[in-house]
Amino acid sequence: MKIDKVDFFTEENSIDVVVSRNSEAKDERLKEVMAVITRKLHEAVREIEPTQDEWFKAIMFLTDTGHMCDEWRQEFILLSDVLGVSMLVDAVNNRKPSGASESTVMGPFYVEGAPELEMGANICLDQKGEDMLIRGRILDGEGNPISDALIDVWQANDEGFYDVQQKGIQPEYNLRGLFRTGPDGEYWFRAVKPKFYPIPDDGPVGKLLGQLGRHPNRPAHLHYIIKAEGFQSLTTHIFDPDDPYIGSDAVFGVKESLLAKFDKITDASRAAELEFDGWFWQVEHDFVLAKA
Ligand code: BEZ
Ligand code: FE
Repeated sequence: MKIDKVDFFTEENSIDVVVSRNSEAKDERLKEVMAVITRKLHEAVREIEPTQDEWFKAIMFLTDTGHMCDEWRQEFILLSDVLGVSMLVDAVNNRKPSGASESTVMGPFYVEGAPELEMGANICLDQKGEDMLIRGRILDGEGNPISDALIDVWQANDEGFYDVQQKGIQPEYNLRGLFRTGPDGEYWFRAVKPKFYPIPDDGPVGKLLGQLGRHPNRPAHLHYIIKAEGFQSLTTHIFDPDDPYIGSDAVFGVKESLLAKFDKITDASRAAELEFDGWFWQVEHDFVLAKA
């Protein structure tokens, strides 16, 4: 039997052979994506020249990563986070005009359904931690206040745990809330100073970090999603610049523009006005939304 001339697979032509096999793909985008991924993967294998044993270890790492996933835990997202890929995808999708506030990763601890609160409310429901006042304005690119902006905020407590990590210990919706701006664009609420915390590190991703000589910690931060009619929604954080991990966030989420000053205020009468005990931390940060 005569066989038409075919390019059988060799070490040298591996990329072309695999990519051309996808030529009839119905989805052009999938075809393009798989061509790039095939090329990069084959280039990596050529450069690394893994032994069969090493390749099997890689397969088992991905298998363990999958087995770690359930309704509550997404180990593949954590892997993407510690490789810097989540931040890169975020950057590619959130190029902002100059002057607009920058975005960062969302993280796994957001929950829908937190209560909308009166401006000034204290989102710390268990009175644990060092008091903190957070305030600022939601502005457009020209510096005008944005009215009716919805600010969805969540943070870890003074021991570095979110409420959802300590069910039965922290009250439900502790350190979460939604606030809506008035015509002055101003927001303010009370909370407690958050602490750095480790990303979930009891799985394969945590083990990998350990093997790479990396810590799993994220510097202290507050999460925000800010939405307003006519503007791009903004998912971001503000960070404590004095945190010991500010220069080595496990997921690369820190940007210079997201550093907020945490000032210690010892004015006892101002503290009393805010129903705080003697002193408190004050954080001021304005957010600038990009037009939709
Ligand atoms: C967070 O900030 O909540 C977070 C982000 C990425 C991975 C783990 C946690
Ligand atoms: Fe967080």
